[in-house]
Amino acid sequence: MQLALSLPRHAGVCMLLLVSTLPLWEHVASKPTGPLSMEALYNRVVDHSHTTFVLAADIYREFDLKFFKRSWFTDRPLSLCHTAPIYTPETREQVHETKTEDLLRAIVNITHAWEEPLKHLLSAVPTLSGASDNMLKTAKAVKDRNHILLEGLETILNRTQVEYEDDAYPDWSGVSDLQSTDEETRLFTFFNLCRCLKRDTHKVDTFLKVLRCRVAYNNECIFYQ
Ligand SMILES: *[C@@H]1O[C@H](CO)[C@@H](O)[C@H](O)[C@H]1NC(C)=O
Ligand SMILES: *[C@@H]1O[C@H](CO)[C@@H](O)[C@H](O)[C@H]1NC(C)=O
Repeated sequence: MQLALSLPRHAGVCMLLLVSTLPLWEHVASKPTGPLSMEALYNRVVDHSHTTFVLAADIYREFDLKFFKRSWFTDRPLSLCHTAPIYTPETREQVHETKTEDLLRAIVNITHAWEEPLKHLLSAVPTLSGASDNMLKTAKAVKDRNHILLEGLETILNRTQVEYEDDAYPDWSGVSDLQSTDEETRLFTFFNLCRCLKRDTHKVDTFLKVLRCRVAYNNECIFYQ
């Protein structure tokens, strides 16, 4: 696992897919060497969030190349992402002014809110005629990684003793459109889903890098971002 985690960032996607997605959090902490340091925990979650974003961007890229239709811009209004109600800071300054626990809560909320939609995204890939096998593998990897990321985040939350209500997450209501018999509706729903996924995984990755910098490197980490 150590070896896998220290792979260069730009290792190819195939390589990333081969990397085991074994959970890395608590069982490591139970080793005689003692619990993982906060720095190590953050390094691991950032490895996961970064890869998840790269993979999500891959799905989006393939969809955009093969299925995107320009006419959607004029014919169909883009809907808001289902995670839009979760407040997140917009500018760099706002991010830096947000308390660690509030950022963590938002990140967990977003990651949780993707658990269900990612299952539907995965089942929808085979309905896209012409999608590559790679897209299916990538969708599976994103779903798995999102779940592992969530466990890592919960470990951090536990450590940080942030109080957290583990119940309310924004629902995604696109299931019936994603399974529609109308191809245009299906494609457009898939498009919105992977557009939002790319945006949210990027957001989560960015916030986690800020937090890692703040918590593990005392804000002195220009080179780590
Ligand atoms: C997630 O965000 C939504 C929208 O702001 C909020 O209603 C919900 O309580 C949040 N969930 C958690 C667990 O913080
Ligand atoms: C967080 O702490 C609670 C209570 O101590 C525990 O039940 C839960 O398994 C912990 N979760 C993680 C991911 O460590």
